[in-house]
Amino acid sequence: MSGAAERTVDPRMADADLRAWLTEMDAVALERLYAAADAARSATVGPEVHLRGLIEVSNTCARACSYCGISVHNKAVQRYRMGREEILDCARRAKDLGYGTVVMQAGEDPLLSGEFIAGIIRAIKRDIGGLAVTLSLGERSEDDLRLWRAAGADRYLLRFESSNPRLYARIHPAAHGHPPVDPGAAEVPRVGMLRRLQELGFQAGTGVMVGIPGQTWDDLVSDLRTFQRLDIEMIGVGPYIPHPATPLAHDFDGAAEHGQQVPNTVLTALKMVALARLLVPDANIPATTAVATLDKNNGREDALKAGANVVMPNLTPIKYRALYEIYPDKACVNETAEQCHSCLAARIHSVGRCIGTGFGEAPKSHRRSA
Ligand code: 5AD
Ligand code: FES
Repeated sequence: MSGAAERTVDPRMADADLRAWLTEMDAVALERLYAAADAARSATVGPEVHLRGLIEVSNTCARACSYCGISVHNKAVQRYRMGREEILDCARRAKDLGYGTVVMQAGEDPLLSGEFIAGIIRAIKRDIGGLAVTLSLGERSEDDLRLWRAAGADRYLLRFESSNPRLYARIHPAAHGHPPVDPGAAEVPRVGMLRRLQELGFQAGTGVMVGIPGQTWDDLVSDLRTFQRLDIEMIGVGPYIPHPATPLAHDFDGAAEHGQQVPNTVLTALKMVALARLLVPDANIPATTAVATLDKNNGREDALKAGANVVMPNLTPIKYRALYEIYPDKACVNETAEQCHSCLAARIHSVGRCIGTGFGEAPKSHRRSA
């Protein structure tokens, strides 16, 4: 096996090289990886950092994901669901702040009906205009997805969290009409859903958490290969952050004992960002809130320097922010939309980049629609 100094950063690198980069701990070697990813970012998506205004429309969720602080397990959470006018006010705010995209995100909330969301998409497109609409509403029915696409939604985010069916099944128990996942399946169910989203004409985004109990380095290699295979438009990676009110926070798996457990650190996330950029050069890659949460001073900047080109300022009204606690101590819980905006603008400029204009689509989405 070659040493770090010779190891390739070629996008065609082998699984063994991916694994070696993921486990690399030498700071000088890692600078070379980040510099290669930064050069790939510059050559494909350029210097612009696109802002996606995030609206957390409901913290109500019918699912039982064992890592998530707002799952149906957590009886202590006070639930909310934003109204139509509140959501449209946030979208107008996005427009005023110059954003090209709004992201409507929520738990899997059955009372966010297909028609309710479709009506909001139409109103954003018709009455506000100039905004791409991204949805991140969980695993919804084919009918809902078709309705939302027809109403004008442009993109859909659905992280598959882990491409290892055994790990995926363990953290996604059956709930609310979703049958148990087969741990022996060839691929995790959300990968099929992402293909379906692409077929329906959505630009699809996905991603994973790193450092899930039981997750190994080989799992991360397989996650990277899955991004590549899907030729996905957006890739979000963040560290898993245990939430004390969730079952997974109290669950330990044998991977740790075998020295294979991936650490849930910013460092692991940054390596994944860089490798994702090298393998899928024209994807949009956010500097995620989970990275910013574990490193409030430099997390976003470091991600932007390791291949990221998107940030997602939070537009959720302050009274709801703290209730969308998917993990503890989440960044930006007490900041207003304007504060997040100026904070992010300063961070983007501090790393020598500029704020993007327009919708900020991944170059490949033009290829696909062409
Ligand atoms: N730690 C880190 N990320 C989390 N997410 C959910 N729960 C956690 C957690 N405890 C991420 C998942 C989900 C996204 C919206 O937030 O990847 O897809
Ligand atoms: Fe919200 Fe910095 S981005 S405070």
